[in-house]
Amino acid sequence: MSTQSIPSDSIAINASRLNDHLAALGQIGITEAGMQRVAFSAPDVAGRDYVVGLMAAAGMAVRVDAAGNIIGRVEGGEASAPAIVLGSHTDTVPAGGQYDGALGVIAAIEVVQAVADAGQTLRHPVEVMVFTNEEGTSFHRWLLGSRAVAGLWESEDFAAVADDGATLTARLPDVGGNISRIAEARRRPDELACYLELHIEQGPLLHRGGFPIGVVTGITGRSMYHVDIVGEANHAGTTPMAMRRDAMSSAARLALAVRRIAGEMEVVRVGTVGSMEVHPNAGNVIPGRVQMGVEFRDERMESLAAAEVELRRTAEEIAHAENVAIAVTAQRNTPSVPIAGNMQQLIADAAQLAGLEHINLPSGAGHDAQAIAAITPAAMVFVPSVGGISHAPAEYTTPADCANGAQVLLNALLLADGR
Ligand code: GLV
Ligand code: MN
Ligand code: MN
Repeated sequence: MSTQSIPSDSIAINASRLNDHLAALGQIGITEAGMQRVAFSAPDVAGRDYVVGLMAAAGMAVRVDAAGNIIGRVEGGEASAPAIVLGSHTDTVPAGGQYDGALGVIAAIEVVQAVADAGQTLRHPVEVMVFTNEEGTSFHRWLLGSRAVAGLWESEDFAAVADDGATLTARLPDVGGNISRIAEARRRPDELACYLELHIEQGPLLHRGGFPIGVVTGITGRSMYHVDIVGEANHAGTTPMAMRRDAMSSAARLALAVRRIAGEMEVVRVGTVGSMEVHPNAGNVIPGRVQMGVEFRDERMESLAAAEVELRRTAEEIAHAENVAIAVTAQRNTPSVPIAGNMQQLIADAAQLAGLEHINLPSGAGHDAQAIAAITPAAMVFVPSVGGISHAPAEYTTPADCANGAQVLLNALLLADGR
């Protein structure tokens, strides 16, 4: 992998400090089953506290907004200049990894610390934003904090209820937020100069190709569906096969159809059934009801629309064949977001300054950047994920690649500050 060569008048990040802080955050919420910093959980709150400490130590004024986003700010030399924002998230999926989101947050703080250590003041203020519930594991509402900053909350966000019955209204104070004041989290475009986010790729392209840096060209669109299949619970030993209304067999057929829609049929880039609840979930009872979560992702919104048509058509077919009722409810449709050419160029220039080769690639994962892009120009830097693994305990990015990414983030900040 390439090594860094920074021009002598530039500022260098402290690679060992960066990786030490990343490792320390990576100990908060770690279990044998992987990282468990699901938003609003005790480990999430502990991770947030750790980050607040790092921000304060780096000289930032720290506040928490009404959406629970942590915002650290250092003032710039020009009083009226809009802020350059660096950000990401510290919440994780259940049994997730130590780098998704965490790298972007720790690197952003390191960048601010490195500028302070160099005794420099930038023209622009710099804000580091740590966004609440990026993953949406809690409340099934993702990009929750970044959408509040961008003014993109929907009625479903206000009414959100967790699987355990808790309301978002009740839980938001656990991370310092307040739903009745959510409008105050929104930022005006004229307050912000741009948004820069470093993230692990979470896919195989950089690692497989041996490229240290990825310049993101756009962020995938995503549509999610809740599928409720109702058949009839009955005795597993006495009910003849022909008399069954088995919700589980129907769910299995639909799950394979989702794979076929994205796979053989190539209607959409990827399709996943990631969750399933079987009722009553007992070995000797034919399942009377199954609820499952389906998602499709594609950069082309027309492909997502076509996948929905095919999903609904197949569900009807299966309902008829299996004598069950299938309700498909659209949950959320997140549009794809292109990254502007000049913002891609900013990252490419920053990589070149660091002496690092890059490729351009789209993001198959979702990111806070796609919400923030609604109010300010956004750009993303990717670094390699070993084996392309993410949202899993084996998620790994080498310390050298983490440092490379942080250096590119710092260079991008310095370039943006001068433009
Ligand atoms: C969010 O992290 C996603 O892409 O699932
Ligand atoms: Mn992430
Ligand atoms: Mn993630």
